[in-house]
Amino acid sequence: MLRAGGLVALPTETVYGLGANAEDPVAVSRIFQAKGRPPNHPLIVHIGGAEQLDEWVEDVPEAARLLAEHFWPGPLTLVLRRGRRVPLEATGGLETVAVRVPDHPVALALLSAFGGGVTAPSANRFGSVSPTTADHVRTELGDAVDFVLDGGDCQVGVESTIVDATGDTLSILRPGGVTREDLEAVLGHPLAVPATSRVRVPGQHPSHYAPSARVVLVEPEKVVDEARLAQELGHQVGVFLPASLVGTPVKAHAVVAVPASMAAYARGLYGFLRELDQQGCDLIIASLPAEEGLGLAIANRLRRAAGPRPTV
Ligand code: TXA
Ligand code: MG
Repeated sequence: MLRAGGLVALPTETVYGLGANAEDPVAVSRIFQAKGRPPNHPLIVHIGGAEQLDEWVEDVPEAARLLAEHFWPGPLTLVLRRGRRVPLEATGGLETVAVRVPDHPVALALLSAFGGGVTAPSANRFGSVSPTTADHVRTELGDAVDFVLDGGDCQVGVESTIVDATGDTLSILRPGGVTREDLEAVLGHPLAVPATSRVRVPGQHPSHYAPSARVVLVEPEKVVDEARLAQELGHQVGVFLPASLVGTPVKAHAVVAVPASMAAYARGLYGFLRELDQQGCDLIIASLPAEEGLGLAIANRLRRAAGPRPTV
């Protein structure tokens, strides 16, 4: 299917991707159509192993190589100088390219059998919640995808951490499945914290990862009161009940008990947002976890889900 220019949804450890042959500009442009994504948004090229890195990029700094060797396969994406093999269609016209090796047996088997690189954004409509099951992909993309490989539930649940390795110092463009602390431990020095408000590259718009319901963030201790007020005002309220409050009675349309473990929270996050949409909520009230470890990626996605929506 990939060799014929088709679109194949594939499981990864983070979220499902919508894959195409990275070296086939026509197939790559079909990804943008299927997602409703503007063509200047760069994609991630998925490869089968760290040893293939130099086939796709140029000028790999030592620090980037260290990270690749340490964290691949895994939820880390490195932005490097584009190699000639990568068409500009895949990078949205940029001279840099994002590359990663996914840590999922089905994705790795596909990459190994195919032999090339697979460009894959998350397999959702542009701006909406990323899919963490094959069913999410089918529901969201339907006939726009030629084939869906079902590899079960994604184990990490939030997207990869994106590290920009094109400048003199490394920086995190998007927090994700590999924590800042883990990266710093391997590098031996601190990394710049991502500013959530910054819209630096295409694809980093304020509203992203968003369910249909409006998302409002409040302090954890206000979640129960705000939910009751909004419900009394006539909203169908969905609540992300903080782990510390689980057991507290809540007046709302639907309640999700937030897991105490950040790994479990990350794994469940997108499913929770979809579930509250499905239950007919028009408003979701949540609070941010502590922004350390995986909490940094979770808070980043919640902020973006709560961000200003484009007016139609
Ligand atoms: O976990 C993941 O990374 C998933 C799975 C499928 O691998 N993929 C994913 O792709 O999240 P997508 O397209 O939804 O997000 C890719 C992000 C975008 O925010 C894009 O702006 C950024 O990567 N990106 C891609 N190429 C870039 C580049 N050359 N420079 C800066 N950012 C880049
Ligand atoms: Mg995405």
